[in-house]
Amino acid sequence: MELSRFGQKITARTGILELMDDLGSIPAEGRRRYMLGGGNPARIPQVEELWRRRMGEILNNGDQFERMIGVYDSSQGNERFLTALADMMAREYGWRITPKNIAVTNGSQTAFYCLINMLCGTGADGVKRKILFPISPEYIGYADQSIEDDSYISCRPAIEEIDDLTFKYHIDFQKLYGYTDLAAVCVSRPTNPTGNVLTDDELIRLADFAGSRTIPLIIDNAYGLPFPGIMFEDVEPYWNENVILGMSLSKIGLPSVRNGIVIAAEEIIEAMSASNAVLSLSTGSIGQEILAPVIASGELVQLSKEIITPFYRSRAVNTVRWIREAFDGICDYSIHKAEGAFFLWIWFKDLPITTAELYRRFKKEEVFVIPGCHFFFGLEEEWKHRDECIRITYSQDEESVREGIRIMADVIRGL
Ligand SMILES: Cc1ncc(COP(=O)(O)O)c(C=O)c1O
Repeated sequence: MELSRFGQKITARTGILELMDDLGSIPAEGRRRYMLGGGNPARIPQVEELWRRRMGEILNNGDQFERMIGVYDSSQGNERFLTALADMMAREYGWRITPKNIAVTNGSQTAFYCLINMLCGTGADGVKRKILFPISPEYIGYADQSIEDDSYISCRPAIEEIDDLTFKYHIDFQKLYGYTDLAAVCVSRPTNPTGNVLTDDELIRLADFAGSRTIPLIIDNAYGLPFPGIMFEDVEPYWNENVILGMSLSKIGLPSVRNGIVIAAEEIIEAMSASNAVLSLSTGSIGQEILAPVIASGELVQLSKEIITPFYRSRAVNTVRWIREAFDGICDYSIHKAEGAFFLWIWFKDLPITTAELYRRFKKEEVFVIPGCHFFFGLEEEWKHRDECIRITYSQDEESVREGIRIMADVIRGL
């Protein structure tokens, strides 16, 4: 098969493919596997009960089920869902949002693919513009999305060492000002892979920076407020007409309905609807149908605050404790302050091997993590730190996470 450049790019052995392959592979006979790698949300009984109840309501409400599965929604999204979400965001945060500011996509991964390629690359004026990721490491899923090569710039962050075992990345604003020909600025908040939450001040400065360059600020809010609300810091969500806010239904426990959300100025939403029509005609209706009434009633926001946030907060605290119990005294390491999302980012400061090799050694013992090197795309400068970090997920059942950590400690001890 003769592949085009696009074909070569999209089929290359990338970090995200490795991750999805790991998720889909099966363990060696008779061995138990510890999945501390992927981005699957936890199974939370109260949340699952809500989805089950909603499906029952749909099935028992006349022909609602048949309409849900049998009719194409518009390429912008389901009208009832768009209205419920716009009203809720306006109510919660006082933002001036109408349904015209919202588009649904088939997963937020697809939303980012369209956004990134609509914005970066060579423009009609012949100028090549790049996406600026102001803080590296960033979400692995963006790494291979740009169709045009060399379309990203990432900046090395400042590191605050909070105590001997905890650190936090901050944006080094000085680094941003030198770049020209930018298409957009993009951050995930809470950040995948680090669990960082940019402070309100950092976000406002970023928004000012983007505004002064007349480029959009993309904020990927897949883990943030108001749902799923996997955020442990007292910070505010942020939106204005220059912000493109990405959201997802995945992390509230519905990854298989494949629905993402974009909240942005009307012209961006029109562009998203157009790209939806070209790429997939319409948006998947099942998630929208499940969610619309519980968004409108406030039940989803309440569930996020009362169940989802405390669930992941307690998981984060426990997992940090298990790591300390297992790793203390065997290696020099530090954990990024766990402020949100469901990952811990561990920095090993004196390992004799790279974390890509460490990942392979863990894998032999059926423990799956993600080596940090995949998250530093777009960063041009040499930085040893890229090979010193791993991401682990703490959303799986506690016993697996704890045992996975214990096995990791055994492997490290044997290096
Ligand atoms: C930061 C971030 N953004 C976007 C996505 C894509 O999520 P989905 O396509 O399931 O909405 C993920 C998934 O893990 C993520 O972690």
